[in-house]
Amino acid sequence: MKHEPDNSNLHDKSAPCACSAAPAPDNSTRREFMLKIGFALNAVAGAAVGIPLLGYAFSSFFKNHELDWVSLGPVDKFPEGKTRLGQFKNPVHRSWDGVTAEVPCWVRRISGDQFQVFAINCAHLGCPVRWFEESKLFMCPCHGGAYYENGDHAAGPPPRGLFTYEFKVQDGQLMILAGALPTLAQPNA
Ligand code: FES
Repeated sequence: MKHEPDNSNLHDKSAPCACSAAPAPDNSTRREFMLKIGFALNAVAGAAVGIPLLGYAFSSFFKNHELDWVSLGPVDKFPEGKTRLGQFKNPVHRSWDGVTAEVPCWVRRISGDQFQVFAINCAHLGCPVRWFEESKLFMCPCHGGAYYENGDHAAGPPPRGLFTYEFKVQDGQLMILAGALPTLAQPNA
């Protein structure tokens, strides 16, 4: 026997409607929630991009660009009439700089407390120069620049002599004013 659906209530206006009994979804609440999530994500993305950019833009105001006196060691470490390689830790460094914070330089002890401390970088394009005791010359391996033992330009493309650090002897220590590579922008370079 075929079962006929009971449609007797379909047109019965007095019967309660099942569809109206279910709670309507609260679209406005969901929209607000999604908007809040969107704003939060935008804020996070904005911070991720913006904070480093702001840090870069304003870093010059906060970074310690001050030059500082650092020791190259006791003066006795540098024999008179000789040129020796020195090394110091850059006073402007970060904890993650590692060995790159160690900066070499050439130290020429003329006599007593008379020194010349040269930046190791060639005045042409910055390659590290080497000292040759036999010829009493600093030589640059990059383009053949050469300097006399007092740092003056001897030959090749460098437009000037080696840059020098300001120095002083204090408590038996040879100190130099470090923190930035000496350049023409510094009065004593
Ligand atoms: S970098 Fe030294 S001669 Fe060019």
